[in-house]
Amino acid sequence: MKTQQLREKLCRISDEILKPGDFHDKLAPAITDYVALLSQIVKIDSDDEQNRKHIQSEMGQAIGTFWAAQCVKEILRTQRFARSLFSAIKEKLNQKSGPVQVIYAGTGPFAALALPVMMHFTPAEVQFTLLEINQQTYDVLLKVLDAFNLNAYIAKCEVADATIYQVENKNIDIVLSETMSRALIKEPQVAIMLNFARQLPSDTIFIPEEINVGLSTQHKSGTEPKLIKRLMEFNTSLRQKLVDDTIDFNWQFDEVAIKTELEEGESLFFSTEIKVYEANFLGFNDCSLNLLERVKTDKLDPKNLKFRYALKETPGFMVYN
Ligand SMILES: C[S@@+](CC[C@H](N)C(=O)[O-])C[C@H]1O[C@@H](n2cnc3c(N)ncnc32)[C@H](O)[C@@H]1O
Repeated sequence: MKTQQLREKLCRISDEILKPGDFHDKLAPAITDYVALLSQIVKIDSDDEQNRKHIQSEMGQAIGTFWAAQCVKEILRTQRFARSLFSAIKEKLNQKSGPVQVIYAGTGPFAALALPVMMHFTPAEVQFTLLEINQQTYDVLLKVLDAFNLNAYIAKCEVADATIYQVENKNIDIVLSETMSRALIKEPQVAIMLNFARQLPSDTIFIPEEINVGLSTQHKSGTEPKLIKRLMEFNTSLRQKLVDDTIDFNWQFDEVAIKTELEEGESLFFSTEIKVYEANFLGFNDCSLNLLERVKTDKLDPKNLKFRYALKETPGFMVYN
């Protein structure tokens, strides 16, 4: 397919993804078309071991090319993140004359959260720094950008570990990253956001804006969990506090102690809610990032639990008495 046709299709898909409202009948078909369009450009062989291989960094795992390519299929996730980026760019454009500068950390093979948004702005309005740790994923990304002829939007595109990346241009307006799993386990979202928070001005917009992990109970599988207490509200003020309190990359999180009285048949879970940006939320079961994660309390007294988030090769909440 010619570049012009590809872009026309992307434009139509983008209109549906960016439409306001929680859900509408053209949203799921638009995401299906988006996946089909991307797979016309590049084939990611699911049998190739290299495509399935994760990369381990010091502060979390980077999922392999094939897995990262699957993320776009999560309808509400892709919609809420793309719409958030669109709103944030609009907001920054009202405040400055030059192009809005966006760092997109952990692009996956498609920069899937940014392509629909690019269709609504000119390169004079928005410029992207694209960072991806996985060389194989990055190579696919270059093909995708070429196919849509989007290189005019790209200030930089690098293979880099965003948890330690040094920003040269401090004029960054927006940092976008979706490098997380439920309950902020395994993947380096927190470390990536903190690395940029320590380098960039306080009016930089972070997408997601706030990630809340709570301790919840659930009676029956599939039912709405009941929140007992928030364990971490990862937002501008916590990021700033951590930046102020931390030397180098030695991020330390507060301990949270909780007394619980479980009723018969209840289990404890970590629950995750995300304020992506402004009115764009992702709550219980909206996408894989909001799935419940069981709290492992074997050998612990479940009535008096303590929790502390830790950034290490496998990030997540430590649970102890
Ligand atoms: C969950 S996928 C999301 C892909 C894409 N942004 C999307 O939303 O469809 C996360 C991507 O971030 C990349 N990644 C993970 N850790 C990273 C790091 N420390 N630095 C740069 N990229 C990273 C992974 O390789 C993967 O491609």
